[in-house]
Amino acid sequence: MQTLQTTSLQVRDNQLWILDQQALPQQKNWLPAHSVAQLVDHIHALRVRGAPLIGLSASLLLALLAEQGQTRDQLAQALDVLRAARPTAVNLMNNLDRMKLALAQGSYVAALSQEALRLVEEDKQLCDSIATAGSALVKPGSQLLTHCNTGGLATAGVGTALGVIARAHQQGKVVNVWVGETRPLLQGGRLTAWELGELSVPYQLITDSMAASLMARQQVDAIWVGADRIAANGDVANKIGTYSLAVLAHYHGIPFYVAAPHTTLDRLCPDGAAIPIEQRAASEVAGVAGSFGHVQWAPENAAVTNPAFDVTPAALISGWVLDTGVVTPDEVAAGIFQPT
Ligand code: MRU
Repeated sequence: MQTLQTTSLQVRDNQLWILDQQALPQQKNWLPAHSVAQLVDHIHALRVRGAPLIGLSASLLLALLAEQGQTRDQLAQALDVLRAARPTAVNLMNNLDRMKLALAQGSYVAALSQEALRLVEEDKQLCDSIATAGSALVKPGSQLLTHCNTGGLATAGVGTALGVIARAHQQGKVVNVWVGETRPLLQGGRLTAWELGELSVPYQLITDSMAASLMARQQVDAIWVGADRIAANGDVANKIGTYSLAVLAHYHGIPFYVAAPHTTLDRLCPDGAAIPIEQRAASEVAGVAGSFGHVQWAPENAAVTNPAFDVTPAALISGWVLDTGVVTPDEVAAGIFQPT
């Protein structure tokens, strides 16, 4: 396969490499993702993360394994293992459905390679279209709040919600971005803060618990988040903490926008209650780990609950900003996301 480089994925020497998102921003380590076991391990550990990126990394690996001579049966098994690597983000399943069709073709090696590269190129275009549609909604002089990481690290392109913010900043409309740290794994504090710094977008990092008082003091003009799955009724699964922000936004009369490509839409999922929510290890809540080391502050064997995502009901969302344009609450209520 040709050489490929995005912010956090590389194909070189016919192998897949990933930028370790757990080590950022202190360390920039490119790690091999040469086998299904390696990639699944990276996905579980969130070294590869972000709904679009997970799907793209799995698709690229499958194509590379085909080029290395794996049989159709081996690839079908690999596809099933990759599909189960993370349950909530539907982009993985949607991308692999397309790879499955390529695998069924006569010359499947070429078909898989073309399809994986097409998915990467498409994702760049999708991000760009989202940024165009979303930035038109940002008012001059805005202070925006975002959660988790939805930038170039999480996609092949400029990102989803963070792509909107970056584009609106280029247009001179953003004076400040409040970056929620996003406990427990700190994707906001580690990754979004780093990306905004690289892009020279002015930001201030806050703990998640600070958002409410900023809204009460009218220091937040709009909230922009990404999505891991959008159900047919418009409910959205995204990083844990998104729902609390949506409730707060509703109370304070602040617009709450979800930015995502159409690959995040799951028309066959009727509503948020049907979205599987990944439960993660207790250690992530009982302490913190990263390139800075590992600390546990909770008592040994403390009882912990750790849902990685929550569901924001459609009623709290002001607009779904997709690559196809802005979808309004009225359009969602009329069934625009329902199966066609
Ligand atoms: O657990 P993560 O870090 O993969 O969660 C990421 C999110 O929740 C993002 O908002 C979502 O995947 C969209 S990324 C463009």
